[in-house]
Amino acid sequence: MKKVTVNASKKYDILIEKGLIEKVGEHIAQFDKVKRVCLVSDDKVFSLYGEKCKKSLEKQGFFVCTFVFENGEKSKNETVLFKLLNTLAENKITRTDMLIALGGGVVGDLCGFAAAIYLRGVKFVQIPTTLLAMVDSSVGGKTAIDIPAGKNLVGAFHQPSLVLCDWSALSTLDNDIFRDGCAEVIKYGVILDKAFFELLKTPITKDSQIIEDVIYRSVSIKRDVVEADEFDTGLRQLLNFGHTLGHAIEKLSNFELSHGVCVAKGSYLAAVLGKAMGHRDFVCEIKTVLEDYGFDLSCPFSAKDITSAALSDKKRTGDSITLVIPKEIGECVLEKMQVDRFVKIIEEIV
Ligand code: GLY
Repeated sequence: MKKVTVNASKKYDILIEKGLIEKVGEHIAQFDKVKRVCLVSDDKVFSLYGEKCKKSLEKQGFFVCTFVFENGEKSKNETVLFKLLNTLAENKITRTDMLIALGGGVVGDLCGFAAAIYLRGVKFVQIPTTLLAMVDSSVGGKTAIDIPAGKNLVGAFHQPSLVLCDWSALSTLDNDIFRDGCAEVIKYGVILDKAFFELLKTPITKDSQIIEDVIYRSVSIKRDVVEADEFDTGLRQLLNFGHTLGHAIEKLSNFELSHGVCVAKGSYLAAVLGKAMGHRDFVCEIKTVLEDYGFDLSCPFSAKDITSAALSDKKRTGDSITLVIPKEIGECVLEKMQVDRFVKIIEEIV
């Protein structure tokens, strides 16, 4: 088993090991005041792992209620959130009890936000079942739901009490969903770890020998960033590499294109932007790695549309836009760019 400890406003462990879902009860038992838990999942994940998880919890004597909702980003909304909050109240979940998020990013974000606001905050545990959730969304305490005006616009920072990464769950993932997580893993190499980027040049698969190590290294990088800037006012913005333009493309596709695919396209465009801004040219290197993972880097939208979608992103401030640009592989910088200049460069790229 590998362990990463996060020392943020709350100290917690991230455990990485095959088979952790079957031992969830034993791990939750360390929180001695917890008597009742609510297991939150989507229908797809619950049908695969829900009963196993529930059994393990009941074996340790916990009262377990469940909240299962329809899979997909469309469920990350206020209606599902309030249904969950009511389920917690109906099942007499108290402030010393616990929520457990079993699933991908949607489950983790929604359950985490419910945990942040129910009774002004209760503990929760993340059991991520996608690569993307294991290496990114389950770590660092960002929780949110979507509203019609945009994705993740209503949320809170609320750190989990424990993260259990059972990478055997990756075996049931569609290849496309696994690949989405790879875009985030490659991101960690580009922003902070050249050696990791080099290692990733040989594409990883769900059953790679090194998958546990890849999760461990990704999570360790994210831990370092979160410890340095938990509330996303500086360094943590590096994690947005590929995301400024990626989010714009995702929004323009009406969320038909997956997050990982859009991050890959956005990462490539960020490399091109970096070159246009006079930094060293990493376009070919980044493009090759992403294409080796099977990402299509073409951009189906016009410069005009991408620009206006990027400018309505919540990360924009005033008349400038902050971009994460590779100065070296393993060393990215935040660069503020005037909107006019940004528009001009994007027009030249797509
Ligand atoms: N996923 C970006 C962050 O956690 O800050």
